[in-house]
Amino acid sequence: MKGDTQMKAEELKKEILEKTAEYCRLVHPPERAGDFKPGETKVNYAGRVFDEREMVNLVDSSLEFWLTYGRWSRKFEKGLAEYLGVRKALFVNSGSSANLLAFMTLTSPLLGDRRVKRGDEVITVAAGFPTTVAPVVQHGAVPVFVDMDLATANVDVTKLDAALSARTKAVVLAHTLGNPFDLKTVKAFCEKHGLWLVEDNCDALGSRFAGRYTGTWGDIGTSSFYPPHHMTTGEGGAVYTDDPLLGRIALSIRDWGRDCWCESGRDNTCGCRFTKQFGRLPAGYDHKYVYSHFGYNLKATDMQAAVGCAQLEKFPGFVMKRKANFERLYAGLKDVESLRLFSKLPEADPSWFGFLMTVKPGAGFTRNDLAKHLESRFIQTRNLFAGNILRHPCFDSLVEGVDYRVAGDLANTDVIMNSSLWIGLYPGMGDERLDYMIEAVRRFCGK
Ligand SMILES: Cc1ncc(COP(=O)(O)O)c(C=O)c1O
Repeated sequence: MKGDTQMKAEELKKEILEKTAEYCRLVHPPERAGDFKPGETKVNYAGRVFDEREMVNLVDSSLEFWLTYGRWSRKFEKGLAEYLGVRKALFVNSGSSANLLAFMTLTSPLLGDRRVKRGDEVITVAAGFPTTVAPVVQHGAVPVFVDMDLATANVDVTKLDAALSARTKAVVLAHTLGNPFDLKTVKAFCEKHGLWLVEDNCDALGSRFAGRYTGTWGDIGTSSFYPPHHMTTGEGGAVYTDDPLLGRIALSIRDWGRDCWCESGRDNTCGCRFTKQFGRLPAGYDHKYVYSHFGYNLKATDMQAAVGCAQLEKFPGFVMKRKANFERLYAGLKDVESLRLFSKLPEADPSWFGFLMTVKPGAGFTRNDLAKHLESRFIQTRNLFAGNILRHPCFDSLVEGVDYRVAGDLANTDVIMNSSLWIGLYPGMGDERLDYMIEAVRRFCGK
């Protein structure tokens, strides 16, 4: 674009972006005191928190019409990696894709004997989100399930040794609803036995353990940016690692399995596009079309990344609000004897995703009774995702001892499946909603 056209385009763009901001302020205003009507307004378990900056970025990127991976994606990946203090973050199209990519990275032949092969074992838990475990099964590796600790609703680390076998190659675990699992113990276990550690950090972005961000303790961490999560890009997720080889493999598998690392629209970044010998290909075969893995295309769009850039700037504020909301709920409910509330480990500093409550035996009511009551009062509730994934129809065709193993029993996992639920504390939730939830739970529990 030259001269007059460029000036006109810039003028128009300015006008469009100003109008966009005005539109956003009009149609999506921040909540005002008094907007919440107890017993009438729904209290959602999660929600997007955004303003005109997200919408302006979104429209800005759409005017560029690059659509695929581009400058916003680069900026977002760089910002996320800097926030976490790791070398590499890769933006992908969902948290489930991030888990798939993280796991498949560990199957790369470039990892030699440490690669996870079909039939190798991966230690994990059964109470959580299905796509933490799905890639293991999809690859033909064998998930080995250990039980949960009821206080933290995380892996019971005392069960790890019993789950180990000569075929164990990795540990894949999520930080439940933002509550960091015992990373020191799990990491030491992995180091002692030469195992990979993947942290599903989809519900825990911003959490720390012993001062260091969750998702950065293991070899690879994953995030989800689906709207209920700690920040959103609509659909979206990320894989992050501090290990340059794992980063290179993940990039290859994200982008069709190719060997080349040129961004969309760029050529010959490596400077040896037509001069190398790969596999049994003719010498000088175009590097752009050389495949070192059986990959996918898991990229997200630049428009999603543009929204992410605005969210990332606000992110530390989101984490603070989540913590404050948790504290308010905890203070309001800690004396309810019929409920077990979430507890955290001394070194954990959670960026909470939700507020988990487990109905104790002898409470005189069930989890579903409590859920139905809260829902009838317009308070949204959620179970801890799958509860016990082994009890779902997707396991019907799998054979225990062949396709998966259970180390010990899953008694606490079943308690979580039967007796736990959680309510929200997202940053957009004001004190009126939190207090309304506290009162509703207390009343139901006879307090
Ligand atoms: C722990 C965990 N892992 C993975 C995912 C999947 O993320 P997505 O919905 O972006 O695929 C979720 C989704 O809520 C989750 O809670």
